[in-house]
Amino acid sequence: MTLTFAPADAASLPLILVPDGGLDAALTDLDPAQRNWVEASGFAPKLGRLLVVPSADGAPALALFGWGDKAARARGRFHLARARARLPEGTWHLVGDLGRRALDEAALGWLLAGYRFDRYRDNPAPKAALKAPEGVDARRLEIIAAGEALTRDLINTPTSDMGPEALEAAMRTLAEEFGGKVAAVTGDALLDANLPLIHAVGRVGGEAPRLVDLTWRAPGSGRNLPRLTLVGKGVCFDTGGLNLKPGASMGLMKKDMGGAATVMGLARMIMALGLPVELRVLVPAVENGVAAGAMRPGDILTSRKGLTVEVNNTDAEGRLVLADALALADEARPDLIVSMATLTGAARVAVGPDLAPFYATRDKIAARLSRAGDKVRDPLWRLPFWTPYEPQIEPGIADLDNAPKGGFAGSITAALFLRRFVTATADYAHFDIYGWQPSAAPARPKGGVGQAGRAILEALPKLLKL
Ligand code: BES
Ligand code: ZN
Ligand code: ZN
Repeated sequence: MTLTFAPADAASLPLILVPDGGLDAALTDLDPAQRNWVEASGFAPKLGRLLVVPSADGAPALALFGWGDKAARARGRFHLARARARLPEGTWHLVGDLGRRALDEAALGWLLAGYRFDRYRDNPAPKAALKAPEGVDARRLEIIAAGEALTRDLINTPTSDMGPEALEAAMRTLAEEFGGKVAAVTGDALLDANLPLIHAVGRVGGEAPRLVDLTWRAPGSGRNLPRLTLVGKGVCFDTGGLNLKPGASMGLMKKDMGGAATVMGLARMIMALGLPVELRVLVPAVENGVAAGAMRPGDILTSRKGLTVEVNNTDAEGRLVLADALALADEARPDLIVSMATLTGAARVAVGPDLAPFYATRDKIAARLSRAGDKVRDPLWRLPFWTPYEPQIEPGIADLDNAPKGGFAGSITAALFLRRFVTATADYAHFDIYGWQPSAAPARPKGGVGQAGRAILEALPKLLKL
């Protein structure tokens, strides 16, 4: 896996981006033999076409990459990743007239095309290397790519190697790398620590449930820093519990810690960049298992916050573990709380795997997040905390219902449920992500994928007035 740029002083060959109608202009810089080669090849600069042009001795001299037109490019993201997948070994430099944003996207797409999940078998990355294009912040992009790779690795690793214990270990490794601290409350100690819902969901898992609490402060800053708390759903496997999922719905449920994986990737970006914040990352790490002793439909549980919850479906476990983690986060009144979770099938049905639906308590937060998402090509779509649906999460015999009947607006009612646990902190955003790329796309192989982390990173300076 190579997620870095080639050294600036490496010898390199031009990789020329040719937009629609730009072939003649691109050819003027080529010598006659090369021009003949291009013409004979019938190369047209359609988006994604690649032509390697040799020098007199037959070695690659340059490459042309079709950049298409605006409309074609708008149908996807990270198009340059397709060049990396097919270019021959060697070091390349980009030639083309791109604006700053497009250049950033191209450069990041290149880096992310180097991601490979190779824990269980060899899976070599492409050999071509790129020098950082002039004008991009190479270090920042490399840090972002490393954070995204962490998210993908965590999601792709199956529960046999990424249960609650391993997820805690990954939090510890992450903290150690950047001088952060980790505290964890595990097993029955969750009851003493008043985290009863995390215990109720995870107590029959193959490994003990736990709440993992990472804290980090930007080094060298004495002044009060803005405080950011990230909360990620860490359901290492979701069988559905006694409301067992059918096989087809359970197949991918190793990814139900995608929220935790994504906040961890984001935390890595924040720490590696040294953003001037006080950061806290809370991950309730559990398996939603099936066994005698499991929570049952109809059980009424009392949460950390004191709100009682009727469990009308044991498969709506994410909001239970998040409820206690969010209440804990809220008690410290940080400046901003962000939760990320593979929370509902309804979110996937509504927007599909490419968009990250999110909720925000204030319009300004939402606008900043959406704008940042557009800018860094990490698309978000706001859904409402629709207060008129509050009655749907009130079952009558307890304060809250974890699974409203009828399933109308399933992602919204889940978000409303979470919001009940954030009452002292005004600024709260929640992301109901999918965390999985169902089929390969440029820079995103099939498998675990980060969503919204890069958008949040981009928005943070404004959200926290850094
Ligand atoms: N982890 C699932 C949600 C999920 C399913 C996310 C598929 C992505 C893909 C969650 O724990 C769940 O099962 N939610 C239920 C809630 C319902 C019972 C109220 C759902 O969405 O069906
Ligand atoms: Zn579930
Ligand atoms: Zn789940």
